[in-house]
Amino acid sequence: MAIVTIRLKGISMFKKSFIAAIFFVFFGMGAFNLSAQTKSKAILSGIPWFDNNGNTVSAHGANIIKEKGKYYLFGEGHKDGTNAFAGFNCYSSSDLYNWKFESIALPVQLTGKLDSNSVGERPKVMKCPSTGEYVMYVHADTLGYKSQYVGYATAKKITGPYSFNGPILFNGKPIKKWDMGTFQDKDGSGYVLLHGGDIYKLNPDYKSISEQINKAFEKGFESPAIFKKDSLYYFLGSDLTGWERNDNYYFTATSLKGPWTKQGFIAPPGTLTWNSQTTFVLPIEGTKETTFMFMGDRWSFPKQNSAATYIWQPLQVDGHKIAMPVFNEAWKIDVKAGVNSSGEIKGNEIAANDQQIIYTGNWQQDTLAVKSSDTKGDAFSFTVKGTQVGIYGLARPDGGYANVIIRNSKGKTVLTSSIDMYSKYPTVLLKFLSPVLKNDSYTVTLTVLGERWWWKEKSGRVSGSKGDVVSFEKIMVIE
Ligand code: GAL
Repeated sequence: MAIVTIRLKGISMFKKSFIAAIFFVFFGMGAFNLSAQTKSKAILSGIPWFDNNGNTVSAHGANIIKEKGKYYLFGEGHKDGTNAFAGFNCYSSSDLYNWKFESIALPVQLTGKLDSNSVGERPKVMKCPSTGEYVMYVHADTLGYKSQYVGYATAKKITGPYSFNGPILFNGKPIKKWDMGTFQDKDGSGYVLLHGGDIYKLNPDYKSISEQINKAFEKGFESPAIFKKDSLYYFLGSDLTGWERNDNYYFTATSLKGPWTKQGFIAPPGTLTWNSQTTFVLPIEGTKETTFMFMGDRWSFPKQNSAATYIWQPLQVDGHKIAMPVFNEAWKIDVKAGVNSSGEIKGNEIAANDQQIIYTGNWQQDTLAVKSSDTKGDAFSFTVKGTQVGIYGLARPDGGYANVIIRNSKGKTVLTSSIDMYSKYPTVLLKFLSPVLKNDSYTVTLTVLGERWWWKEKSGRVSGSKGDVVSFEKIMVIE
């Protein structure tokens, strides 16, 4: 893929890529409503996505399965401000760019595990070949992550509703571990994967476990995901750092029973898996080739709904080696052919120090031609003519949240979104890209929220941002 990379302090910054989307927008509750079909022409990583209803796509810890030419995305639906289970969502797409909200596939239960006072994570759906049923596997837990098991739910229709059946049993007992994933082999066998590297084989009806075929072999190794290319299995996972990012790594083996050989990091070390945590690898099998798509989460508590984003990247797979050497801000996939290609976001750039931009409050001019503020209520705004607007910012260890509002020439709010400016290392990134709007004059206002990403890990350690700084670099306007 052709890449244009900007470097700052020796860190790869971003690739310019092409994206176009057609949205008709009306302001809604914390998001915006789309009266017509969303149209995006690329996979964009690290910025909020919006579904056909104008709501943020909330499907983290996800997996995707394909059925009759359509891709179905299942993931954790989140609410901002709380970690309580909010249901598992299902979206569909025929191009992997535009997501239609289908259902809350597994809603919050009235009582017991997965009620409104519990944790539900990492839903993974597989179609059981012997029964034709859809089976969802989940991590069910208490709010403090103190009493977990792998649960399962079944449905006759892919979009649900899924009925929650409690724990999946092995020798009559629940599997009391947290991070989980699934893998379906070519022969139709289904497997449940657990943090540390346990692999359990499902019985033909997918509703109980027949045997444990691999024992945990690695400390941590959360968010387990397996894919297969030719006759080699690749086992991906992350370090144990809660929702904080780390350099995820992988193993390979010729059998799911192992032995598993550690191969190294998935992305260049220090990029922290391009600031994400693995959840699944989707083989996009086409007539010409197969693209293996890495799916990761860029978590953002307490704004897991509005500010957490997706890092979906084409994986390079070559023998025992896999890699994501560059960060593709936008890329394309021809789902029929299975071929991926680069994208490019092209437009007119307006730098942060341009006089068209009106600042209110106490913004500081950094040496990097970046304007920064950490004061709640500080804002900047600008008016541009065009169809689409992007915002680039310097994500940093003390980065905080911002809010973006776009108003049309009549003063009507057409879009509102959150932006998370946190990264453990400084990196200039596209942090926001509006959908394609009707050609008009738009006033964009970004406001510093005076809040930040933070999380108390299972170990009790608090991780996340050290400040509320919003550093703004430039605007991209697409006519
Ligand atoms: C991570 C895990 C996530 C979530 C988070 C909460 O380690 O992968 O799924 O459980 O911890 O701290």
